Amino acid sequence: MKKVLSGIQPSGSLTLGNYIGAMKNFVKLQEEYECYFMVVDLHAVTVPQEPASLREQSEAVAALFIAAGIDPARSNVYLQSHVPQHAELCWLMTTLTSMGELERMTQFKDKSSGKDTVGAGLFVYPALMAADILVYNADLVPVGEDQKQHLELTRDLAGRFNHRYGEFFTIPEPYIPKVGARIMSLDDGTKKMSKSNPNAGSYIALLDPPDVIRKKISRATTDSGREVVYDPANKPEISNLMSIYAECSGLSLAEITGRYEGQMYGGFKKDLAEVVVAALEPLQERYHEIRSSGAITDILASGAERARAVASVTLQGVKDRMGFLPPRSK
Ligand code: TYM
Repeated sequence: MKKVLSGIQPSGSLTLGNYIGAMKNFVKLQEEYECYFMVVDLHAVTVPQEPASLREQSEAVAALFIAAGIDPARSNVYLQSHVPQHAELCWLMTTLTSMGELERMTQFKDKSSGKDTVGAGLFVYPALMAADILVYNADLVPVGEDQKQHLELTRDLAGRFNHRYGEFFTIPEPYIPKVGARIMSLDDGTKKMSKSNPNAGSYIALLDPPDVIRKKISRATTDSGREVVYDPANKPEISNLMSIYAECSGLSLAEITGRYEGQMYGGFKKDLAEVVVAALEPLQERYHEIRSSGAITDILASGAERARAVASVTLQGVKDRMGFLPPRSK
């Protein structure tokens, strides 16, 4: 059975962008693949995290995975830090990675720009992401558009290892949705919707109550036109709202245009708010049930146990090929 791996950082409330760009596809892919879905807490600490909030968010993201429809009996759901093989393989991966490759990562450039000091962890971050993927020999990695460059580096590193030490790693393929790979901010159609934006009105959090969602969508920026048509270059805001509509309702972009022909933006935005509320309400209900049931601890324990079993075999194979002597018991 082919393998799928992906991860989401527990660094603040997840957004509709995380859901549409990544989580929705996790749920879809678990039907056909052996899946590994991680809460990437080691990645989260590449920028400072308050310990209590890291603990809370780690559990919250795991619960959101399940609430979104990931079946823990079928897919492995766990915390990255519970599988130490990720960090160990990351170290080995850094020895194959050049400074120039890491310097070229646009996410690093964005996150470090204007900062007086930049942590080495933020710089090395893509090597850890490569280790996450390669330690399971994942075939497919469902992500949003912003992770594409990290995936390309992962493919290069896998190829480099294979070239140097003999065929070993699977070269993973990105799985990026056609619509919704880059959900934009509600206040600026040229910026990615992000949980780190200080303006909470710029994103829809998955746990936002219905009235908050309605208010945020009614205030979302639009253009001065009146046609609901998909044209990202000239109408980035309306195109973004249409992508959200399509992904939350199952309608195609053409069907949405047809439905709002001759109408102004007001009615479209009102309906969009209801479509988003209807998509998120069942997820929110399940989320609260799961959190209060206390089931997450056991789910994470068994997910990590299965993940460690697979990851330790790969890591041993890597170390053998690189020339590390195996430990011998006396
Ligand atoms: P993170 O936590 O920033 O985002 C999680 C996933 O959500 C997608 N995403 C979006 N998709 C569409 N529109 C948006 N506005 C939007 N914002 C976020 C991201 O593309 C991502 O798929 N480095 C990764 C986490 C990671 C990982 C991995 C992913 C660590 N190891 C191994 C895949 C495989 C990250 O920071 O994602």
